[in-house]
Amino acid sequence: MEPTLTIRSSSGEYPIWVGANIRKQAGMLLKDILSGKSKVLIVTDRKVGSAYLTEVSEAFAPFLPVETAVLPAGEETKSFTQYENLPTKALEKGLDRQSIIVALGGGVIGDIAGFMAATYMRGIPFIQMPTTLLAHDSSVGGKTGINHPLGKNMVGAFHQPKAVLYDTNTLLTLPDEEWRSGFAEMIKHAYISNQEFVELLKKKVQSISDLKSDQIKDLLTRSIQVKADIVQDDEKESGVRGYLNFGHTLGHAIEKT
Ligand SMILES: NC(=O)c1ccc[n+]([C@@H]2O[C@H](COP(=O)([O-])OP(=O)(O)OC[C@H]3O[C@@H](n4cnc5c(N)ncnc54)[C@H](O)[C@@H]3O)[C@@H](O)[C@H]2O)c1
Repeated sequence: MEPTLTIRSSSGEYPIWVGANIRKQAGMLLKDILSGKSKVLIVTDRKVGSAYLTEVSEAFAPFLPVETAVLPAGEETKSFTQYENLPTKALEKGLDRQSIIVALGGGVIGDIAGFMAATYMRGIPFIQMPTTLLAHDSSVGGKTGINHPLGKNMVGAFHQPKAVLYDTNTLLTLPDEEWRSGFAEMIKHAYISNQEFVELLKKKVQSISDLKSDQIKDLLTRSIQVKADIVQDDEKESGVRGYLNFGHTLGHAIEKT
């Protein structure tokens, strides 16, 4: 299966697959990336894990020994304490520099598991398997990190994934508030890119149920392309990548109150 998109980054190109039920083919789709690796550690949260961890572990098992780490769900998980648990688990399970991390979850898991990959033994590869609509933004572009008590995302690293595998079927178990949150990110991508995308969203999406349909793959691909175009131009956020923060200053302030 050909990748849906390919992203350029300073550490090389990486493929993005978007499709229904592709979590079950994860090992097969990623087999070139997994080749020569020693172990995979799948990091997820309790909610996502209870729905998808068994299937995803089974998809990798024919290719590599699989270890798993299941963290609590929610923003509080992007903490020093939860971060420290990951290298501990990895060391106990014998992960080495040839090992690979899989982030199975929303933006929280993508950020903390990506940061673990960026820092474990000075950096090992990782794969994003996003399961929220919002994570179509967070899984692409290589920003990883955790929160500090004095500020959100204050400790982190740029570390590009080796691949992004986005199973649109996993979105069907998301609560409506998470669909709305992710759709807001899509609207942001439309406003910072072009008017035609804005008009397309207005026409095609009247309610959340319009997102839970076959058109989600096309809308996601289009929205990921906006992010890709920006991060390919400005990977480390010294210029246009700042557009992706459209609305964030106000959003973070509201979240704090
Ligand atoms: N790195 C980046 O470039 C970037 C960009 C935007 C946002 N972010 C970060 O992303 C985080 C927010 O991500 P999020 O909104 O995905 O939150 P999240 O990861 O906390 O997920 C939201 C909730 O949905 C649950 N969930 C996830 N997938 C599910 C599924 N398929 N079915 C049922 N429940 C599911 C989770 O357990 C959680 O309770 C923030 O920490 C933010 O800072 C990072």
